[in-house]
Amino acid sequence: MKILMVCLGNICRSPLAEGIMRHLSDKENLNWEIASAGTGDWHIGKAPDRRSTLAAKQIGYDISNQRAQQFSQDMFNRYDLIFVMDRNNLIDVQRLARTFEEREKVKLFLDNDEVTDPYWDDSLFEPVCKQVEERCREIIKQLS
Ligand code: 4NP
Repeated sequence: MKILMVCLGNICRSPLAEGIMRHLSDKENLNWEIASAGTGDWHIGKAPDRRSTLAAKQIGYDISNQRAQQFSQDMFNRYDLIFVMDRNNLIDVQRLARTFEEREKVKLFLDNDEVTDPYWDDSLFEPVCKQVEERCREIIKQLS
């Protein structure tokens, strides 16, 4: 399984989802390939926001070596599933799909809900991180 996690900046939410999902799927020996990307281009090449890195570290995950990249159309081919963090991401990524199959690969990470963008509120990083961890465990149960 090849999974891409997508948010707006690729420095807060999707790096958490990438690092946590990689760690948990590796622990289960699933041999999944996990990556993340942002719909925007502002943070290309940057490390995750330090608040995300800290929140992840506090519950046992190291995401500090990950680097931001921008979503591009070739990623539709490279990944089986593309999980987006909110409905704006869903619109932005689906707009780039060229076929029905590409469009169908794009799903809300939380199924029917959005992961709140924590960028402007420090207090959101810890709950977002825990929510992402919980959902990663569920997805592993569903797909493995
Ligand atoms: P992310 O959060 O989409 O979870 O990475 C954001 C990061 C940066 C910005 C917005 C959201 N920004 O406006 O730079």
